[in-house]
Amino acid sequence: MRVTTPLFVGLIATAAEALVVTRATIDKCLVDSGVPIDTKGDEGWVRDVAPFNIRLPYLPTAISVPLTTAHIQKSVLCGKKLGIKVSAKSGGHSYASFGFGGENGHLVIELDRMYNVTLDAKTKIATVQPGARLGHVATVLYEQYNRAIAHGTCPGVGISGHFLHGGFGFSSHMHGLALDFVESVTVVLADGSVVEASSSKNSDLLWAIKGAGSNFGIVASWKLSTFEAPDALTRFGVTLGWNKSTAVAGLEAVEAYAKFKAPREINFRVGDYGKGSPAIEGLYYGTQAQWRKDIAPLLDTLPAGWNISETRTLNWIESVISYSNYDNVDWITPSPQENFYAKSLALKGLNGTSAQNFVNYYFDVANNVVDRFWFFQLDVHGGKTSQITKVSNSETAYAHRDKLYLVQFYDRYENNETYPASSFGFLDGWVDTVTEPLPKSDWGAYANYADARLPRATAEQLYYGVNLPKLQKLKAKYDPKQLFYYPQGLSPAT
Ligand SMILES: Cc1cc2nc3c(=O)[nH]c(=O)nc-3n(C[C@H](O)[C@H](O)[C@H](O)COP(=O)(O)OP(=O)(O)OC[C@H]3O[C@@H](n4cnc5c(N)ncnc54)[C@H](O)[C@@H]3O)c2cc1C
Ligand SMILES: *[C@@H]1O[C@H](CO)[C@@H](O)[C@H](O)[C@H]1NC(C)=O
Ligand SMILES: *[C@@H]1O[C@H](CO)[C@@H](O)[C@H](O)[C@H]1NC(C)=O
Ligand SMILES: *[C@@H]1O[C@H](CO)[C@@H](O)[C@H](O)[C@H]1NC(C)=O
Ligand SMILES: *[C@@H]1O[C@H](CO)[C@@H](O)[C@H](O)[C@H]1NC(C)=O
Ligand SMILES: *[C@@H]1O[C@H](CO)[C@@H](O)[C@H](O)[C@H]1NC(C)=O
Repeated sequence: MRVTTPLFVGLIATAAEALVVTRATIDKCLVDSGVPIDTKGDEGWVRDVAPFNIRLPYLPTAISVPLTTAHIQKSVLCGKKLGIKVSAKSGGHSYASFGFGGENGHLVIELDRMYNVTLDAKTKIATVQPGARLGHVATVLYEQYNRAIAHGTCPGVGISGHFLHGGFGFSSHMHGLALDFVESVTVVLADGSVVEASSSKNSDLLWAIKGAGSNFGIVASWKLSTFEAPDALTRFGVTLGWNKSTAVAGLEAVEAYAKFKAPREINFRVGDYGKGSPAIEGLYYGTQAQWRKDIAPLLDTLPAGWNISETRTLNWIESVISYSNYDNVDWITPSPQENFYAKSLALKGLNGTSAQNFVNYYFDVANNVVDRFWFFQLDVHGGKTSQITKVSNSETAYAHRDKLYLVQFYDRYENNETYPASSFGFLDGWVDTVTEPLPKSDWGAYANYADARLPRATAEQLYYGVNLPKLQKLKAKYDPKQLFYYPQGLSPAT
């Protein structure tokens, strides 16, 4: 039996057969609308269907590959007409494969052929297409215009996922989150209309886009402010030499410094990459001599055993390259795939029992996990002088401006075998022991380090905190039928 409309899919014998019929229907709608597509099995399809996180592969029903805003709009209209969920994929680096919708069967709009970057000479505002990757944006802005934006370190990450949910990096203490650079956006809404969102037009949409953007429409173009690329920055490293009896005091010294003494110019984290030796790494807006003066109040209070391991003067693009772990960041293709599980915490502090629990777990459990690669990163995100905390939690949808730290926990297997279910407990246990003593208002999670295992309501609460009720109302306004659904997507207010 041949069935021509997806309404009859439920009557077909096998799921595989249903998918074939539905794919043909969607592909036809796209092709009839003049939208470029990947055909299942062709080179483009094979590349576009590969998830960054090998642990979470999903099979789209169809993949459109727009080159224009009109192509994006027509893709959304096909999804709407045929009753199929639509997901935008920019760089495809979602930890939970949300660019595929986090489940099988979506119409995926693959945006990464749209990566142009230009700058208005007078306003210094950049116009960026929605599938540009961070390293390409940084390279073009620097090489052609000597301008820059604060954002994360991985050159293959897509601008859209990153800027829609935060965007933290080694210039964020100084200049803010990536989303703080957003002036306005062009968005394709669930009803197929194309609108601008700025502080004067659809300002509620702009508010929502800056922190929870994947829920409201598809950004087809970004307008971003920029700053002049600095000539000389100091990259620095300090080994900490902590052991189980000094590490809590060490964390408390870091916390006191980060909260009250760190100048805005200092950007840093404490991290350990499975080596059993936590260290500081950072980027300072100033000379090495100024850095030594500004870091002294921290070094003076750290437990004995620390050493300065690195001080290097770098220009802007050298600093971006140096923290990318690659030789060149001008990327228009995805990063190598990884097979991993990750979690995050946004914390007001890490002291007392919570810090003791973190340290005990690090020394007693994590340091004994030797059969794969894991790391933690404790990013200094807030504090008195941080540019991120200059605005309140409710000024944009990003709800963690009152948090001192963003913490990432990451656990990776070096091969393609299934991530064993028995291994989830490693990071789950670490996060549980840290948060167990804390009141709910002291912690959350970061949507850009999506943890696919959180139930929907928990994820909404942890990602969006105080902004959740307003976001759910806006979801009901802009996407009531959840065309842009994914398992941790916002539920519309009823
Ligand atoms: C190697 C690596 C390093 C990282 N480093 C950092 C870091 O230093 N700092 C940091 O803050 N984060 C970092 N991240 C996390 C990163 O910010 C997120 O994974 C981000 O969401 C990825 O964006 P993307 O466009 O590549 O992902 P995608 O998977 O394409 O998209 C992510 C989400 O955004 C939605 N989306 C994509 N494009 C659009 C659009 N145009 N309109 C509406 N919705 C859209 C997708 O549907 C999906 O829900 C890193 C991730 C990786 C893999
Ligand atoms: C990007 O810009 C180049 C040069 O102007 C143009 O030829 C190309 O079509 C643009 N690409 C897209 C996807 O808009
Ligand atoms: C720091 O340097 C001192 C002296 O140079 C050395 O004894 C100590 O082991 C070093 N500590 C670390 C953590 O590298
Ligand atoms: C921990 O480090 C401190 C400072 O270097 C040192 O005095 C102490 O002996 C160390 N303790 C253990 C158990 O190694
Ligand atoms: C400890 O952390 C809490 C948040 O969990 C914070 O409110 C408090 O100020 C911190 N205490 C110190 C001494 O930094
Ligand atoms: C994992 O799979 C990918 C694609 O399927 C392949 O390119 C890669 O070589 C594999 N890696 C390992 C370590 O097996």
